[in-house]
Amino acid sequence: MRHLMSPLDFSVEELDKLFDLAGDIEAHPDKYSKACAGKKLASAFYEPSTRTRLSFESAMLNLGGNVLGFSDAGSSSASKGESVSDTIRIISCYADICAMRHPKEGAPLVASQKSLIPVINAGDGGHQHPTQTLTDLLTIRSLKGRLGDMTIGICGDLKFGRTVHSLINALIRYTGIKFVLISPDELRIPSYIRDDVLRKNNVEFKEVVRLEDVMGELDILYMTRVQRERFFNEEEYLRMKGFYILDKEKMKYAKDDMLILHPLPRVNEISVEIDDDPRAVYFKQAQYGVYVRMALILTLLGIEV
Ligand code: NCD
Repeated sequence: MRHLMSPLDFSVEELDKLFDLAGDIEAHPDKYSKACAGKKLASAFYEPSTRTRLSFESAMLNLGGNVLGFSDAGSSSASKGESVSDTIRIISCYADICAMRHPKEGAPLVASQKSLIPVINAGDGGHQHPTQTLTDLLTIRSLKGRLGDMTIGICGDLKFGRTVHSLINALIRYTGIKFVLISPDELRIPSYIRDDVLRKNNVEFKEVVRLEDVMGELDILYMTRVQRERFFNEEEYLRMKGFYILDKEKMKYAKDDMLILHPLPRVNEISVEIDDDPRAVYFKQAQYGVYVRMALILTLLGIEV
């Protein structure tokens, strides 16, 4: 039995297969519409979510399966003091696969050690968000035709943004990747990524504060939200929240084929005036999230169509 805790749980070759499958699902959805008949996905969400939970549920429904779960820790027995280890043993009796989001780093991993069914980490605190990374990689691969040889700017809350941590971990396995890490000093990438992932693997990167200065170098601009829920004080959050606002003025410096990605939700870091720019692909990205989660469910359940 296989779980997904980190994007590194799949080799580059396995990811290629997964993305090929996602591509086939996109092209021939009908072929897959009964693939998971009789199977159930449990969504165990201890933290707020729109896209991740609904795209998992939509993915399972598209495969002809069923879904059950909770979207709020307060409505589960966690509010009575039940541990995730106990909860997953129970969910194992009711479902065939489980997507779990939790505010504590490592909680889905603990669950996977006690689980009788595959567990997917749907975001654990400020740590990792592997299925968002699969979504991001599929989006880049589909729209750029490759995953290597590009300069990727990641902008915003690089300290607390789990999507950023997972994405960097996954992208360093491709050749010719350069990172431009754009953040205020207070929200720089944690040293366990800078030193243990980037430096250790000799990946080219630089850290800058101003987005305008580097815009013209980027093939991908990955914008992120300042992660309010992970701040220790509200004043600090309020100071950081308006730091980057991507607008038409800044887009003047961008390459014609630069893509703007964002895991969403957006707060104010991308002005809505950019939404109609053909380079803004964040809504398309959310659609790719369904295809890749369909491919992931099939893969972890060992179902071949
Ligand atoms: C992200 C998350 O939950 O980490 N959202 C998502 O799953 N698409 C990003 C965020 O909340 O800022």
